[in-house]
Amino acid sequence: MESEVSRRTFIQQVGVTLAAAPLMVSRAHGQSPSDIVNVAMIGTGGRGASLLESLAEASHARVVALCDLDPERLQKAAQMVEKRNAVTTHDDYRNLLENKDVDAVVIATTDHWHTPLALAAILAGKDVYVEKPCSHNIHEANLLVKCAHEHGRCVQHGTQRRSSATDIAGLRAIQEGLIGEVFVAKAINHQRRDKIGKAPEEPPPAGVNYDRWIGPAPQRPFTQNRWHYNWHWFWEYGGGDLVNDGIHQLDEAIWGLGLDLQYPQAILTSGGQLWYDDDHETPDTQMIIFEYPGKQIIYEMRLWTDYKMEGHDNGTVFYGTKGKMEIGRKGAIATTVDGKVIEVKPEDYGVQAEDIVNNFITAVRHGDPSRLNSPIERGAVSTILCHLGNIGVRCGGIKLAYDPKTETISSVSDGSQANALIRREYRKGYELPYRG
Ligand SMILES: NC(=O)c1ccc[n+]([C@@H]2O[C@H](COP(=O)([O-])OP(=O)(O)OC[C@H]3O[C@@H](n4cnc5c(N)ncnc54)[C@H](O)[C@@H]3O)[C@@H](O)[C@H]2O)c1
Repeated sequence: MESEVSRRTFIQQVGVTLAAAPLMVSRAHGQSPSDIVNVAMIGTGGRGASLLESLAEASHARVVALCDLDPERLQKAAQMVEKRNAVTTHDDYRNLLENKDVDAVVIATTDHWHTPLALAAILAGKDVYVEKPCSHNIHEANLLVKCAHEHGRCVQHGTQRRSSATDIAGLRAIQEGLIGEVFVAKAINHQRRDKIGKAPEEPPPAGVNYDRWIGPAPQRPFTQNRWHYNWHWFWEYGGGDLVNDGIHQLDEAIWGLGLDLQYPQAILTSGGQLWYDDDHETPDTQMIIFEYPGKQIIYEMRLWTDYKMEGHDNGTVFYGTKGKMEIGRKGAIATTVDGKVIEVKPEDYGVQAEDIVNNFITAVRHGDPSRLNSPIERGAVSTILCHLGNIGVRCGGIKLAYDPKTETISSVSDGSQANALIRREYRKGYELPYRG
């Protein structure tokens, strides 16, 4: 496919060495791709519902099984799928994974279940689409990459900007010199995320297996804030808006600067809660600087403000010697030093792209992880950088250095505290199915 070839050529041009990705594909890849990929979805909440819509539009995918711990959501999702074909429903993912007809599993649960489910799915012989962030902590992300490579599975990470034709065109324009030499990118996450108040303890909703929802995390009483969506703001389940929305802008900065699969030499962090006075554990204000040899990425987050204050939507800004390029939901817009504003369109650069879901299905049909736009090894680096940014803030704002070979953090004011956050304790009965 011409568009995919040109995308890959472009990626190599921006300095991403595909060879650095140690993919070991164990399956013999088919000469003719399988026609329909049977998909199972685990987690049918806000994101799950939107992925179901994308899967319904994908011509080579069929959703055959669904799993959620909330029976209401499960039923609603089943009704959606049953308009097209029959689907089985499960509240225990292990039953779903036993189904030999399932080729691929889409995971859109709470973050703290992502790696445990993805590992179990790979071990059951399935390809996996795992929502971002791929893990709850650094160690899990590394395990997931290792397991995916060992089993030669397609594992797509839910950072969909890498599948956006506009973003690819914007980065191609940068590559062709539109804004000169580029040294710095800023990942901007400014938005209003309202206070959540203080929620009282109460019994979990009827029919919900809350013990399994908590899963590997410590046992806690149910509250509405520790439940659907708001779990993002508790360290035991999520990682705040850095891993929620910020990861998209940060991932784009890494990609655009050609820093995929690399770790920064140092990370400076600052942040905390300047506005929240409620159940939130995660910060509302955060600044991180990732230092690479000759390049810098700045992440800036303010959750008590509005998109419009910066004059543009959330996104990533690349700064060059001849101008800047803003890439976000408004498109890819360059402003040159002489004040010219240029909107970069995919057609101007001959860019076409499959969306992230179709791209996953294509890779699975061909049994070929190298076709993925957001392969797990790149997703893992973006996820780990977010975790490092959070660890820095949780340790009071420090300068970190992360050694991916030994999986340790050093050069910090309190190294022992930072290193303790690299992995988690798993509640009995919810240990990881793969230890590397
Ligand atoms: N790529 C994107 O743009 C994008 C957008 C939104 C959300 N997301 C990601 O999608 C994920 C889900 O977010 P959300 O807003 O839909 O959350 P949500 O709380 O609305 O939904 C999560 C669902 O997972 C279910 N669940 C949790 N653990 C389970 C388990 N062990 N087995 C089965 N079901 C389980 C819950 O019951 C719930 O219905 C998050 O990781 C989030 O980061 C990605």
